[in-house]
Amino acid sequence: MCGIVGFVGKHQAAPILLDGLARLEYRGYDSAGLAIRNGEEPAEVVKSKGRLKILAEKTDNGNSLVGNCGIGHTRWATHGEPSKTNAHPHVSGNCTGSGSGEVESEVVGVHNGIIENFKELKEKLLKHGYAFYSQTDTEVVVKLVDYYYKKYNTDPADAIAKTMVRVRGSYALCMMFKSHPGEIWVARKDSPMIIGVSNGETFVASDVPAILKYTRNVYYIGNMEIARLTPGEVTFFNLDGDVIEKKLTEIKWDAKSAEKGGFEHFMMKEIHEQPKAVSDTIASVVKDGRIELENIGLDEEAIKNISHIYIVACGSAYHTGVVTQYVIEDLAKIPVRVELASEFRYRKPLLDKNGLVIVVSQSGETADTLAALRLAKEKGIKTLAIVNVVGSSIAREADNVFYTLAGPEIAVATTKAYSTQLIAGYLLAIQFALVRGQIDEEKYSLLITELGTIPKKIEKILEDKERIQWFVAKQANAQDVFFIGRGIDYAVCLEGSLKMKEISYVHSEAYAAGELKHGTISLIEDGTLVIGVLTQGELYEKTVSNMVEVKSRGAYLMGLTSYGHYEIEDTANFTVYIPKTDEHFSASLSVIPLQLMGYYLSVSRGLDVDKPRNLAKSVTVE
Ligand code: F6R
Repeated sequence: MCGIVGFVGKHQAAPILLDGLARLEYRGYDSAGLAIRNGEEPAEVVKSKGRLKILAEKTDNGNSLVGNCGIGHTRWATHGEPSKTNAHPHVSGNCTGSGSGEVESEVVGVHNGIIENFKELKEKLLKHGYAFYSQTDTEVVVKLVDYYYKKYNTDPADAIAKTMVRVRGSYALCMMFKSHPGEIWVARKDSPMIIGVSNGETFVASDVPAILKYTRNVYYIGNMEIARLTPGEVTFFNLDGDVIEKKLTEIKWDAKSAEKGGFEHFMMKEIHEQPKAVSDTIASVVKDGRIELENIGLDEEAIKNISHIYIVACGSAYHTGVVTQYVIEDLAKIPVRVELASEFRYRKPLLDKNGLVIVVSQSGETADTLAALRLAKEKGIKTLAIVNVVGSSIAREADNVFYTLAGPEIAVATTKAYSTQLIAGYLLAIQFALVRGQIDEEKYSLLITELGTIPKKIEKILEDKERIQWFVAKQANAQDVFFIGRGIDYAVCLEGSLKMKEISYVHSEAYAAGELKHGTISLIEDGTLVIGVLTQGELYEKTVSNMVEVKSRGAYLMGLTSYGHYEIEDTANFTVYIPKTDEHFSASLSVIPLQLMGYYLSVSRGLDVDKPRNLAKSVTVE
């Protein structure tokens, strides 16, 4: 989604803005722009289509733009094609391209989100003599702010508040007013935005990595709030113009965690960070061999009262929900339903009043997941969020939060956040099982001990990654790949298949192995790669039979199983072994080779691993 960065302070703004925007590149974008103010001078606006480096070249890395106050933007097109004209910042005047529009403009702004009623507002503004140069909804908002500012001869806070009351949709808005030099004005509804301060300087950004290098002290601006940023100071207002007091929060992530640290891509770095992310997440709730969930609203009584669990999420987070469903139902015997947030929010779900809705999200900003959470709350159902980004919208709105400790995840394709979400699911399952009398103390301790061995086992798999690289190099021309498995293995197939298609652009499908004969098997041709995942003892033979079926139709087989199952080599053409673990936790290990496969396939096809086409890291619009 779009990335926003703003800065006001002692230093030259443009290089800081470009640096921040570069750190938001993973959010995906198709054009970029800057607006810089030098003292009382009107804003100078520079925009370009395409990668950020074009904008950097055009401005000599920002050095040609003089001024200590500015806003920047990377755009991911929603309204209007990717072009220089549609790129942000947008101005309230008539942008002629010669710069005169910027000079005349009172308001210049950037925006992340979608304004749903922009057509109706545009009609209104046309009647009042405004002309439009772009197809964007952002230009409409900027002009609406200008309209109220002039009509009521008022101050920025009031003009922005009047605009917020009129617009429908989601937005993080960042603006400068010609008559208020040295100030940046921001407003937010349902789109992420944080404000940082340090040493007489103030930063605003749509995500933490953009400002982590400069400060870890941040304010979270709430929904329907406005803020004025001046050097080192921030004043917050509500819609009535009353000043709101806010506390400064310290972000624990360190700046290095948002750098590549010697790896060629963030994705590979994050794959290697999984042992630590997993062990940090375990350590956050396991104390002296016991799982403590009281802090997240799950004391014994609350756990005993849960009638149903509904896990709601999108993409890979949904896939962890599928694994968690198997584990909770098997260990704790609580009925679990897993749903895609985009479906759940519109399907008028019937939820039991003693149920628990668990939403899972790395970013904490995914629009559908946030909407699903709000729906559950409206229905009076207790909510728990498994979230990675502290202070994100989902984290703030859920009744309770189980924070995964993955640290910043930059690559678009999730790896370490996925792994920590699995861990959170297991920890809930184990504790629920004990409290509800489904397992005894001995089993409880065994499971917790086994969980503690997962990080080392992941490390062991990573030690052998070159073998997977070698195999994948031979598959660089694959057209279609099928992942098959049963139970938890099927859940892992969903993730393996997504990893492959999203970064390698190779068509792949995950199939419950038993479903193949109901249609899909007709797609198997000579040489089609089929990956069988077999980590569940009871289901092992059954999946082997399905592998034999596809092999007899020409499939080329890869088996992914635990050490000891060497007889798989009679069936599979190539086998990857993972260390043995309790079968409930096998997804944490079997997913690692599949992540590596997606990664190496993408590299071997010469693709942009960290920033796959058409994708954005956090999907803050529907
Ligand atoms: C895939 C991936 C996405 C996300 C999904 C949900 O690699 O990262 O499928 O899992 O967009 O995002 P969050 O977890 O931020 O809600």
